[in-house]
Amino acid sequence: MALHRLTQIVMGVPNVEQTAAYYAEFGLTHGENGTFATVDGGEQLRIVPAASRRLVRLGVGADDPDDLDRVAASLAALGVPAERTAAGVRAVDPGTEVTVQVEIAPRIQQEPTPAPGYNGPGVTARAGERAPGILREQPVRPRKLGHVVFGSTDQQASQDFFHKGLGFKVSDTVPGLAAFMRCSTDHHNVLVQQAPVAYLHHTSWQVDDVDEVGRGASAMLAADPGRHVWGLGRHHVGSNFFWYLRDPAGNFSEYYSDLDCIIDDALWQPGVWEGARGLYSWGPPPPPSFLAPDDLAALMTGAHSAR
Ligand SMILES: [Fe+2]
Repeated sequence: MALHRLTQIVMGVPNVEQTAAYYAEFGLTHGENGTFATVDGGEQLRIVPAASRRLVRLGVGADDPDDLDRVAASLAALGVPAERTAAGVRAVDPGTEVTVQVEIAPRIQQEPTPAPGYNGPGVTARAGERAPGILREQPVRPRKLGHVVFGSTDQQASQDFFHKGLGFKVSDTVPGLAAFMRCSTDHHNVLVQQAPVAYLHHTSWQVDDVDEVGRGASAMLAADPGRHVWGLGRHHVGSNFFWYLRDPAGNFSEYYSDLDCIIDDALWQPGVWEGARGLYSWGPPPPPSFLAPDDLAALMTGAHSAR
């Protein structure tokens, strides 16, 4: 039938123990063999040792073997080598250096989470009681992995790999720079942006609402203010509330809520965005280290010396 979700990412870092502790604190549930689970998506992160930080593998869920055949045929038409097994199709995107595994997986079923009632002019959605967001005391637990953002040394080729090869749909683009692509009803599950080196920019984790974005980030910053990267704000492309933090390996991790959903492809008009306009609607200006992470030069040196 179709692609429908991100399944699991494998993240390589030089400092596994520290990074694992960070993601447990971030709200993921630490399981066996370096895996971490979200509430609704199951084991969606695995952390493994690597010489420098990188995304080792990205899993994409599909409904049935027909999807795998279609992906294998499309990759072949693009001239991308792929390995078709009974369980899936595996291929490497040279631009991002990521191995993508398309595999048959059950869809994520999320229980409808009622939006909190917000009072406003002429509207009393919540009378005689305090806002639920200020009463919550339980730690924030991400519901699922929402999207992954990569730097690619060949943005167009990476866009073709995900769009024409795997069958992701393009939701919005920043010409020559970035493409927001989806394999589900989320506005984007993968964002590929032009970069001087292939690297993992960030992973993004869905929480219930903007209070959970704020509570999650505040708790992480109370433990270590140096983790702050960018937030609180609202993106323009995708519309989501965001707050970005830095893990001990240098990867950014985002809490998000209220992302645009595209249920009917025919009703979505992909947009073309220029520069910072598309980046955020409101919030503090993005720090330079968000646009070009501080360790980019080191990653480039590492990439060159590895060749
Ligand atoms: Fe994001």
